Amino acid sequence: MGGGILSRLVIVSNRVATPHRRGAAQGGLATGLLEAMNRQGGLWFGWNGRISENPSPAPALQTEGAITFAVTPLTHREFEGYYVGFANRCLWPVFHAQLHLLHYDRSSFETYLEVNDRWARMLAPLIRPDDIVWIHDYHLIPLGASLRAHGVRAPLGFFLHTPFPGIDLLRALPGQTEILEKLLAYDLVGFQTPFDCQSLSRAIAFFLPEAEREASCVRFRGHRVRVDSFPIGIDVDEVARVARAGHNNRHGRRLATSLAGRRLILGIDRLDYSKGLAQRFRSYARLLEQWPEFQRQVVLLQIAPLSRTEVPEYDEIRRELNGIVGDIHARYAEYDWMPLRYLTRGFPRSTILGFLRQAEIGLITPLRDGMNLVAKEFVAAQPEESPGVLILSSLAGAAQELEEALIVNPYDSGEVARTLARALAMGLDERHRRWEALMGRLRRRDLHHWTETFLKALAGTFLNPSPQEHP
Ligand code: G6P
Repeated sequence: MGGGILSRLVIVSNRVATPHRRGAAQGGLATGLLEAMNRQGGLWFGWNGRISENPSPAPALQTEGAITFAVTPLTHREFEGYYVGFANRCLWPVFHAQLHLLHYDRSSFETYLEVNDRWARMLAPLIRPDDIVWIHDYHLIPLGASLRAHGVRAPLGFFLHTPFPGIDLLRALPGQTEILEKLLAYDLVGFQTPFDCQSLSRAIAFFLPEAEREASCVRFRGHRVRVDSFPIGIDVDEVARVARAGHNNRHGRRLATSLAGRRLILGIDRLDYSKGLAQRFRSYARLLEQWPEFQRQVVLLQIAPLSRTEVPEYDEIRRELNGIVGDIHARYAEYDWMPLRYLTRGFPRSTILGFLRQAEIGLITPLRDGMNLVAKEFVAAQPEESPGVLILSSLAGAAQELEEALIVNPYDSGEVARTLARALAMGLDERHRRWEALMGRLRRRDLHHWTETFLKALAGTFLNPSPQEHP
């Protein structure tokens, strides 16, 4: 890590990319952090992905290269209350503007707070005074306040990978004021986009009017917290290199052969209701209906690895999608052409990036998304001689940066269908111009830039502490 940051880095996230769990469906968070950790080294604390009724009071330690992993299981009750109940049936749907999927019960909220406190008790003795602690995502909002309560004095930063909800959404979340108070216990709170910072600022004005809001800081109960946006990026050259290799591996060649010259439209998302897959499939059906000349000429490949299968709403969206896919096949398929290939399994990263390189169109249309790193990976994976076109939802954080993509409203199936037709007709000059501009953006704010700016800002809060916090 450049920039003269000498402190040891401690990362905390619910998912830890331990050696056994590096695979296709782990999501952007763990992948991004692993690359950052590999570079800087340090301690990474989190859930080991297992259920056990008697977790030991100390985490299991495993060192691999420069990283020491410290992991703990969850009990069944903790898994149900903290992970399934509050994190994924309350915070996730509210933060992704799906209020009809919010399922709250008080005991889940309590278990969420309890797990954060148990983790703080386990982690506090491992933290040295000159460490710098970076906590990730909605599962762990209360962790900073708990660490302080257990005597940790090191600087504490929090980064939210999801969107931060507007007031109307937050009003529906029981316990929202307590959640906001916990957030303000950090020294630095980072979001994906300036829009999320504004949402927090409005929420504070509404729910905690006694807090003082300054330009990029909030003062609350004598403590000052800096709030800023740090859009997560990718390692552009690494993605391009792996995509080139993946393109030519066994799966890449099989995909190319199976297409037999047809044009590939590709979507890659965890199977999550926030990804807008139902709307995406309907938009594609509309393209086939309104522009029949594309029938037999295009294939939509949607890879959607199963995710959070323990959460009932994920089962519902899976069944809904099976129905829609069946309808599209029944209507358009021919004995030698399947318009839609829908796979709910994962693939190794190199295969995914190789597929992205083959795609002429990346169709990334979430209903709400913190950033969406697949959109960035699609751009970086494209062949320079004939780059494809990114169609991107205006409701993904990435749309606030990737202005040269074709930006669509995922709820407007007519617009998405028209944009698909436009992308399929786009000439090389325009594709090239857009791609060059997008690549410039990706390089200016890559993964390294993300970790470096966040950690510098966090170290800065310590150099300039509020009087009560770091005497
Ligand atoms: C999103 C979240 C991550 C999460 C990932 C996979 O990217 O922001 O925190 O790890 O989804 O979801 P899971 O529930 O399997 O951890």
